[in-house]
Amino acid sequence: MVWGVLLLAALVTGRSPTTGGPDATTGWVGPPGLHSSRGQDARGPRKRHTVMIKQPALQTPPQREPIMDTSTPVTRRDLFTLAAGSLVVAGTAQASDRKPAVRTAHITDVHIMKGMEAPKGVGKMFEHIFGHKDWSPDVILNTGDTVMSIDGPNVTAAAAAEQVGLWKDAVKACKVPIRSCLGNHDYWSGKEPTRDVPAEMKGPALMVKELGMPDRHYSFDQGGWHFIALDSMSDWPKYGYLTKDHFDWLKADLAKTPKETPICVLSHLPILSVTGLAYGGECRKGNDNLVPGVWIHADCWAITELFRQHPNVKLCLSGHMHTCDRCEYRGVWYICGGAASGSWWNGSEYGFPPLYGKVDLFADGTFNYEFIDYGWPVRGWKGKELKV
Ligand SMILES: [Fe+2]
Ligand SMILES: [Fe+2]
Repeated sequence: MVWGVLLLAALVTGRSPTTGGPDATTGWVGPPGLHSSRGQDARGPRKRHTVMIKQPALQTPPQREPIMDTSTPVTRRDLFTLAAGSLVVAGTAQASDRKPAVRTAHITDVHIMKGMEAPKGVGKMFEHIFGHKDWSPDVILNTGDTVMSIDGPNVTAAAAAEQVGLWKDAVKACKVPIRSCLGNHDYWSGKEPTRDVPAEMKGPALMVKELGMPDRHYSFDQGGWHFIALDSMSDWPKYGYLTKDHFDWLKADLAKTPKETPICVLSHLPILSVTGLAYGGECRKGNDNLVPGVWIHADCWAITELFRQHPNVKLCLSGHMHTCDRCEYRGVWYICGGAASGSWWNGSEYGFPPLYGKVDLFADGTFNYEFIDYGWPVRGWKGKELKV
């Protein structure tokens, strides 16, 4: 297992929690690029030979008026300049003027449970997702940890069924299909099976069934985009990489997707992310930052190398870290979407409040992604904070 992940991301964007202004309503520091639902935070990956780099609006608190995104075509050659660490932004193109091919909300790490008013929070999230004036999703993309936690050794079938039941109640408020992948907490430990949740439901089976997934990993097409849902726990209970069978399946799926079809990949663990380097300072060992393979895909080197052979891979969405970032590497954007639950409904996670992603995907492979604070009050809960 690889414990140290040295990220050579071509671009890293996102506001440090220590540099952002507090949300005036909640007192919490917003995530990188956090915007109100009216806000605009657009970025677009390259076309086959062109990259659209959108200006990240890093200092905009949620209450401000939307800013205009700016963008400019960047040549493939420029991409390597960008890889050296500079962010080049100019121009005035507006991706939002075009009609999206797919509109979606990216939710992740819902962690629904009975306590902490979590069901009400999930209700508020769906209300917000479907409450936009001029925008509504065609599909919801859910990158896992849907239930609080059914993977612990002491979680009985009855306890697992309770969490599943809460989710089934909550999704009655969802007006469009939900496409999910599994999170590490969605794997049932198998304790004390019942007639309703028998032993065969151990591991991924229970949530694969309850989330309506065709399999632990699968792909589908919508609106001219191809979507691939990976299983970051394919070697469960170990996780953080794809087994050989899973990787071979991914290879085959990419190979049979037409080159002109843009691809969006879903995984619970980020394939690439910078969150792990800064997460709570927990990775700091001596003079090194060591990112555990259970945080970010330990096989990121192999997956990104495979993506290199398929320039139509445009966007990878993930969760797991409960913090937000966006990074671009070799023309693929990797977005870690925070958590709908914040810090397990206990406040913010190092300043990242409960949120979801509002996403427009365009036919040419570009996209807009906005982090949306849906306004769940974090009350007096502090969540996790890092003392520096
Ligand atoms: Fe989670
Ligand atoms: Fe997770």
